[in-house]
Amino acid sequence: MRIEGPGERIVVEVLPRRASTLVRDVRDGLGATPRWLPSKYFYDEAGSILFDRICETEEYYPTRAEAGLLARVAGEVMAQVRPTHLVELGSGPARKARILLSAAGRQGLRCTYVPFDVSESMLRQSARALLREFDWLHVHGLVGDYDFHLEKIPSGGRRLVAYLGGTIGNFTEEEGAIFLRRIAATLGEDDRLLLGTDLMKSAEVLHRAYNDAQGLTAAFNRNILRVINRELGANFAPERFAHVAFLREEPAQIEMHLRAEEAHEVEIPRLGMQISFAKGESIRTEISRKFTRKSVERLLAKAGLELEAWFASHEPSFALSVSRRARGSRRSRMSA
Ligand code: AVJ
Repeated sequence: MRIEGPGERIVVEVLPRRASTLVRDVRDGLGATPRWLPSKYFYDEAGSILFDRICETEEYYPTRAEAGLLARVAGEVMAQVRPTHLVELGSGPARKARILLSAAGRQGLRCTYVPFDVSESMLRQSARALLREFDWLHVHGLVGDYDFHLEKIPSGGRRLVAYLGGTIGNFTEEEGAIFLRRIAATLGEDDRLLLGTDLMKSAEVLHRAYNDAQGLTAAFNRNILRVINRELGANFAPERFAHVAFLREEPAQIEMHLRAEEAHEVEIPRLGMQISFAKGESIRTEISRKFTRKSVERLLAKAGLELEAWFASHEPSFALSVSRRARGSRRSRMSA
């Protein structure tokens, strides 16, 4: 690993790895009725590439809708928050950060970018590109799982914490509130959360977005079985499962499932598990919630946050919200 010199504009902290929860998650999820798996396991190297390709399909609108909206409102958000640090949870290729940093640059704001990602190579590569593009930029990268290391976000200054892409939708209401509450606990008076949420829209548009014609979403869905085969020595045959994605109205969410096309058995030696799938039995692999302004505000309130600004695109609809720690929240009362 390369150690950066004192004059360099980039610092990368590699946080200690936590023992993976994969073993427990898979045992619990596949042992439950109905069966399910946490969607975070989609994203190994192959899964991340597939997701990137999904974002480029005509059908999958959220990435484009969010980027377009961000380009439109980044100036206003940056002028309002005037962050000294832009923290991005799950920064990936940093395409959205580039939009926010351009807006900062145009306003003469000189903020430090704090990308937080599991992939060190991705983080370094995207950071280097941004440093070339913005000669005023400093980067303080964090490599790790933001699920565990939220408290490692450098404090001080005014932080804009960005959690984009609609990823919050992969949590249930309860899980999402818990996660946002943990983010809220790291926010000071002047810090803000920038949250991306996909909005409810016609069933047809949603259905198309999660059932692209090229079958990339199907391949992405089945990839979770390859991850389990590799990590746990399981013998899933991904082609024995059909990709199924549909809209549930209550709670409003897209669900992705893998449905066994025939009755068969799967072994997971490292868990000592043998699973009998009945024909038509399915594993739920993802929920992707579709929000309204009201449901976003409700979620924020449960997390001790309050909405400060709301920006939404039309057709396809997507929202960006700026929120702050609620003034009446316990923490602010205690520190008052
Ligand atoms: C990256 C979590 C926002 O929920 O729409 C894309 C993942 N799943 N196609 C989403 C995904 C199927 C995506 N997020």
